[in-house]
Amino acid sequence: MVALVTGASSGIGAATARRLAREPGARLVLVARREDRLRALADEIGGATVVALDLTDADAPARVAEAVEREHGRLDLLVNNAGAIWFGHFAEAGWDNVRQHMAINFHAVVRLTEALLPALRRSAPSAIVNVASPIARFGPREAGGYVASKFALAGWSDVLYLEERPHGVHVGLVLPGEFATEITPAHSRKRVPPLPQPDKAAEAIIAAGPGRRAERWVPRWYWLFAAMRILAPGLLRQLAARKRLRAVIRRKASRLAAYTRSAIVGAGRLRRSPGRTGHRRG
Ligand SMILES: NC(=O)c1ccc[n+]([C@@H]2O[C@H](COP(=O)([O-])OP(=O)(O)OC[C@H]3O[C@@H](n4cnc5c(N)ncnc54)[C@H](OP(=O)(O)O)[C@@H]3O)[C@@H](O)[C@H]2O)c1
Repeated sequence: MVALVTGASSGIGAATARRLAREPGARLVLVARREDRLRALADEIGGATVVALDLTDADAPARVAEAVEREHGRLDLLVNNAGAIWFGHFAEAGWDNVRQHMAINFHAVVRLTEALLPALRRSAPSAIVNVASPIARFGPREAGGYVASKFALAGWSDVLYLEERPHGVHVGLVLPGEFATEITPAHSRKRVPPLPQPDKAAEAIIAAGPGRRAERWVPRWYWLFAAMRILAPGLLRQLAARKRLRAVIRRKASRLAAYTRSAIVGAGRLRRSPGRTGHRRG
């Protein structure tokens, strides 16, 4: 299997490359801007083709397609994972912010897919996985450009799935919740309980690609927000607008998690304690 992962220099992309490298006979193509990171990862996983470039550059799709053709002559899996976010209210950040998000999170994905589709069709059964976000289905404040680009990606993926099915190219969508990666704001990375590591998102990418699942939410329960958006859009908007309410929910959830953890640790100590064992024996 030849698999190409964009955004492989960190976070979910790097975790996906490590996970794919464990598949028998996997040969990987790693794409991102930071070449040193890609080379270090290639060494770690026992070798890979490294293509270091900015995916928003005009010639990027052609350069990636040329490297795939030259080094492997086929492509079984394309993981469109590279992405970025720049927070800001629309009134201040404006159209430029939206344009910047569309360039990397949507247009770069569409252009790379277009360049690699002939190879994917030739290698069918093959697969494309597009990495969106739960906010490809509902949107919080200060992330309008990001939300727009991920909504576009999700809608386009639905259509591409239908169009490429007869050609044996499966199209899966992954919607990862918050993970501890470089894209996550610093205050979120300090959260208690800590954010999950990106390995779980990598498993979802495997399920939506080689596993040929249509859509994977990680964690799974996040799809409830999407259901709410259809069933009770007013309620979802009210909840999203209440900053304080969100903070209270988060605080209560982390207290509950801390309490559960200490209860489990406490129960473990009681079981191991000689006093208690002696008492039982007596
Ligand atoms: N982590 C989360 O909580 C979360 C939640 C929802 C969705 N997602 C999505 O998951 C995907 C992966 O994000 P992550 O969490 O792993 O974040 P990350 O650690 O910041 O990784 C983003 C990757 O994209 C690459 N990239 C960004 N701009 C690029 C460009 N112009 N050209 C080429 N590569 C570019 C970066 O590499 P270079 O800087 O080396 O180019 C990096 O490897 C993104 O699409 C993101 O929107 C993440």
